[in-house]
Amino acid sequence: MIFAANWKMNGNIKFLNSILAQIKQDIIPYLADNSKIIVCPPSVYLSQAKLICHNTSIEIGAQDCSSQENGAFTGEVSANMLSDVGSEWVILGHSERRQYHSENNDLLHKKMLLAKLAGLKVILCIGETHDQHANNKTKDILAEQLSIICESDLNNLEYIIAYEPIWAIGTGLTPKLEEIDEIHQFIKSFLFEKTRLKSKVQVLYGGSVNPENANQIKSLITVDGVLVGGASLSAEKFKQICM
Ligand code: PGA
Repeated sequence: MIFAANWKMNGNIKFLNSILAQIKQDIIPYLADNSKIIVCPPSVYLSQAKLICHNTSIEIGAQDCSSQENGAFTGEVSANMLSDVGSEWVILGHSERRQYHSENNDLLHKKMLLAKLAGLKVILCIGETHDQHANNKTKDILAEQLSIICESDLNNLEYIIAYEPIWAIGTGLTPKLEEIDEIHQFIKSFLFEKTRLKSKVQVLYGGSVNPENANQIKSLITVDGVLVGGASLSAEKFKQICM
């Protein structure tokens, strides 16, 4: 089971030092053998996070990367730079990036290609809006968002999918368990059929995962892990989710 913590634009050095010390001491020794933790802090803290997690099983991920390789792109951070400071993963296509930065498949395709060339593994986030969900459009929307994975130049990209219904993010709402199960199954079958995958892709669920609902969500056989936002900012809550 994969437990990915998306801190978004939260925290500071003090928070980072303290929560990573707690994860190392209170969670890692008790984590099931087949489980792993990926921590995704803001990019300015990646080096520090890597330093603290050196010699532990905690993997470090970034929350985004530039769609450009390098050059005059003020404020951007490249995939190579993320890898250079010790990131193993990068989250791409988070709904907050799609919404506030108009990220679409063309742009995400470029980012995924650069992530692949930099040796980063990708957590590709996909999800539907409340209206799309209400109008039974979820699978159409997800199929469209997943179609980038089928581009031939992304062969050999190491990736997992995070299914994050937009209406569930930060709202306290979650889909019914049967819905999560059905959608995860759909994602796995879609990618198995459309790509030359030898095994089914791992799919995380994200959106208002908390200590109260985590066990039920984790119990679904189609759920390979969770991507946690708000609750990952508390070591205690994150521990309860991971245990
Ligand atoms: P949330 O965020 O757990 O706060 O709903 C999840 C995410 O956006 O990755």
